[in-house]
Amino acid sequence: MSATGELKAMTPPDVVARKGGQPLVCLTAYTTPMARLVDRHCDIVLVGDSVGMVLHGLPSTLGVTLDMMIMHGQSVRRGVGRALMVVDMPFGSYEEGPEQAFRNAARLMAETGCGAVKIEGGEGMAATIRFLAARGIPVMGHVGLTPQAVNTFGGYKVQGRGDDAERILRDAAAVAEAGAFAVVLEKVPEALARRITANLAVPTIGIGASSSCDGQILVVDDMLGMFTPFQPKFVKRYAQLGEQAETAIAAYARDVRERRFPSTEHVFGDAPKSIKGGEAA
Ligand code: KIV
Repeated sequence: MSATGELKAMTPPDVVARKGGQPLVCLTAYTTPMARLVDRHCDIVLVGDSVGMVLHGLPSTLGVTLDMMIMHGQSVRRGVGRALMVVDMPFGSYEEGPEQAFRNAARLMAETGCGAVKIEGGEGMAATIRFLAARGIPVMGHVGLTPQAVNTFGGYKVQGRGDDAERILRDAAAVAEAGAFAVVLEKVPEALARRITANLAVPTIGIGASSSCDGQILVVDDMLGMFTPFQPKFVKRYAQLGEQAETAIAAYARDVRERRFPSTEHVFGDAPKSIKGGEAA
């Protein structure tokens, strides 16, 4: 709560203050209704570019555009009151250099009202992160498996095994040193996640990176069992909403075909009898 009694929204400095403390709880959301649910329980709501695969049926996140992120960001904004809202910068919107990144990040912030943006990449993105952070744009980093580089990696593979650990350590350190207020660590071995978390002054947020991180993030549709083309090992399914939805849709289809729906309770008579839920029954 603020001094005036208003509900205070989480800010990037609040996130930094949680380093080594109570784990940060983060989930994605792409729409107002889901954002409302997530906002009640999470510290950070990420409008992830995973929206392209989860809601738009794209084969990867590479086809996601800035306009898509703005539209979903605006939708999520209407459902977020207390969490920090972070919006992903999509592929092609920041890699040319700091100026391009600033122009597009400023658009994301102005048009969605988000509190921060997320950028994938390590050492190669440090100059861009520094440029944005120095100009009022809080940046969340993302290292390890960065899905926008899926073609370079040759698939969604674990990163940082064996000697490759040093590369990810350097990436995480560079991004944090450049001014990122938190760093997402995706799909890296547990021992490496522990080392990075101990090294950085800002929180690490793990996805497939063990409980040694300062926080956790998942794609909400994955943990609810709504997005089921594949199930990564790091996802715990807390519900099977996809199965429940299919069962419900099949029951509706049966009822319509067998003329069991609509039944009398869903049908209007000639003359209104009473007002039920604001509607003449
Ligand atoms: O796009 C996304 O959803 C992400 C994750 C870290 C969950 O980047």
